[in-house]
Amino acid sequence: MKVTVVGAGAVGATCADNIARKELCNELVLLDIKEGIAEGKAQDMMQTATLLGFDTKITGSTNDYTKTANSDVVVITSGLPRKPGMTREELIGVNAGIVKGVCENILKHSPNAIIIVISNPMDTMTYLALQSTGLPKNRIIGMGGTLDSSRFKYQLSQHLGCSPSDLNAVVVGGHGDTTMIPLIRLATWNSTPVTNFLSAEQQEKIVKDTMVGGATLTALIGTSAWYAPGAAGAALVEAIIRDEKKLFTCCVALDGEYGQKDICLGVPVIIGKNGWEKIIDFKLNESEQAAFNKSAEAVRSMNDVLKTL
Ligand code: LAC
Repeated sequence: MKVTVVGAGAVGATCADNIARKELCNELVLLDIKEGIAEGKAQDMMQTATLLGFDTKITGSTNDYTKTANSDVVVITSGLPRKPGMTREELIGVNAGIVKGVCENILKHSPNAIIIVISNPMDTMTYLALQSTGLPKNRIIGMGGTLDSSRFKYQLSQHLGCSPSDLNAVVVGGHGDTTMIPLIRLATWNSTPVTNFLSAEQQEKIVKDTMVGGATLTALIGTSAWYAPGAAGAALVEAIIRDEKKLFTCCVALDGEYGQKDICLGVPVIIGKNGWEKIIDFKLNESEQAAFNKSAEAVRSMNDVLKTL
């Protein structure tokens, strides 16, 4: 198995680090446009191999896509990260050009790869990847909801005083501060609805804190977060490589599911060796569906910006 991570910034490097530690593949390529950074980080990670006990061979490359040839999975993290006060959407102009170029290069050397998109604005970048590669829709996966659902479980665990691993909870819709929809009605703590244990105020706070989860970290750190985004990317790589058939919320092309078409948006999907294999209908209630439609509207107007670039 061979995996490429494009972009050796904090998210890309963390994603690669997680992939190596889990030994998801024997060959791992880290690629960046900035001279030397991918080679340096790849070497640094390789020097942890005997300490951590993994056998994955990590190589770095400065923009040489021949090194990525025949990758089974490619994770795209390239582009500018958010600065404090910035929305993910403000990155569209610069990142669209970068992501389009990356997709073309990837496709040239790895025509059979499954692509995971992390770059922001993630929903629009996923849509762009789908349009510009022309690949079957199941092979383009946006990571956003996987990260947001993990943040949602963290917030819930803080209020319930429980282990996040005992929780089942998903965030659907867009990967934006105002477009994501934490489905608290459907969240459970070991099969019991979390709403049984939380006041209306607590529920409202959890949902709000989840939605601005990324922005909160950007304000604290001074740039976009990387541990959870990198781990979320690696979790998807793992589900593909191990053909896990696990359910994650991912940004995928909708063709009538959840009432939407011609858009990539976060919905529960099964992830396995073919990419996203199936969309699961969580049967939203009226207000959740209304929020989903509103989220789609916002993402669609962002997608329209692509036509003007
Ligand atoms: C975040 C970025 C990766 O949510 O979108 O932290």
